[in-house]
Amino acid sequence: MAEVKVELPQGAYSIHISSGGINSVGRLIRDLGIQEKALVVSDEIVGALYGEAVIKSLQNSRFEVELICVPPGEKSKDMAVVMEIYNKAVGMGLDRRSPVIALGGGVVGDLAGFVAATYMRGVPFIQIPTTLLAMVDSSVGGKVGVNHPLGKNLIGAFYQPRLVLADLAVLDTLPARELHAGLAEIIKYGIINDTALFTYLQKNCAQLRNKDEDALTEVISRSCHIKAWVVEQDEKENHLRMILNLGHTIGHAVEGNTGYSRYRHGEAIAVGMYAVVLLSQYLGLCTVQTVEAVRELLNVFELPLTAKDCQPDQLMSFLKRDKKNIGGAINWVLVRKLGEVVITRDVPTELIQRVLCEIT
Ligand SMILES: NC(=O)c1ccc[n+]([C@@H]2O[C@H](COP(=O)([O-])OP(=O)(O)OC[C@H]3O[C@@H](n4cnc5c(N)ncnc54)[C@H](O)[C@@H]3O)[C@@H](O)[C@H]2O)c1
Ligand SMILES: [Zn+2]
Repeated sequence: MAEVKVELPQGAYSIHISSGGINSVGRLIRDLGIQEKALVVSDEIVGALYGEAVIKSLQNSRFEVELICVPPGEKSKDMAVVMEIYNKAVGMGLDRRSPVIALGGGVVGDLAGFVAATYMRGVPFIQIPTTLLAMVDSSVGGKVGVNHPLGKNLIGAFYQPRLVLADLAVLDTLPARELHAGLAEIIKYGIINDTALFTYLQKNCAQLRNKDEDALTEVISRSCHIKAWVVEQDEKENHLRMILNLGHTIGHAVEGNTGYSRYRHGEAIAVGMYAVVLLSQYLGLCTVQTVEAVRELLNVFELPLTAKDCQPDQLMSFLKRDKKNIGGAINWVLVRKLGEVVITRDVPTELIQRVLCEIT
């Protein structure tokens, strides 16, 4: 088992990485001094696979527990679904001490986290991420929220979990495409801060594709360490946290331009990362060898480099509307070399256009 600690002014929490951990979730939550009733939020796919194990573990630790399953997919990150969960919480008499437990991928984590942040002005929140992406990214860092018809993640909060429990055994049922999408975020951590992680990914691609637990533990814990380190210094994304957005500016444009349905989040981020290394090379910041290394690693995990179904001018208009823009300028995270990035607003529009043409 590996454990990563996240230390924030409002309290510390642990990320547990192990195989079979969901069977101990009841005891782990009770060890935090949390008791009473518990509400588990999941989606219909994950709830059918793992809901029973989680309920059993909670009941064994004397929790009174209920499970609510929402339809799988991005559409559930919606205020109407939030209201259904509030209704369930009120109906079962959940009070301020009662934990809300997210069992699922990033959709469920963001949704249940938003409920936990707002129900009775905040109740204990536990994350049991079941996708690789959620294990290394969305379950750590405290961003929770839902979508507005006019934009993704427009309604949300910063709300930290009390515990994150990543159980590698649940990845057995995760489709390969989802696994690869999660690996895109792990590649991102390698590029922004950890050359050894990047090299590890290059050398252990077969093990990772086969879901080897030692290899997964290594890359998940390294990724969580980096995310924890960044969030500890800049929880609310004033500056440093922006480095986690590597590939996300163009990635979000690709997702938006294709209605959030064609690409998995990690796939869109892969396109975005390839685009920014190209941009970095054109700006003379990094070498062509760096571009090649990123391209090869994305290829190994069958991640896309281009989004042929997008138009450069449409992507450009999405870029201009990105909610990460401050004062109308895009904050670009560019690559100097593997393991080192820079944040700048100073990128000529012609170069952005050139890159957008190359990836479409
Ligand atoms: N809060 C953050 O910091 C943050 C960061 C990154 C992404 N996100 C959000 O995360 C969401 C994407 O998350 P995701 O990629 O995990 O997608 P997801 O939650 O939609 O899960 C993907 C699919 O895999 C299924 N699934 C999940 N675990 C499974 C398992 N163990 N076995 C079989 N099937 C399983 C789900 O039912 C779903 O159909 C987006 O909404 C994105 O905005 C949030
Ligand atoms: Zn992401």
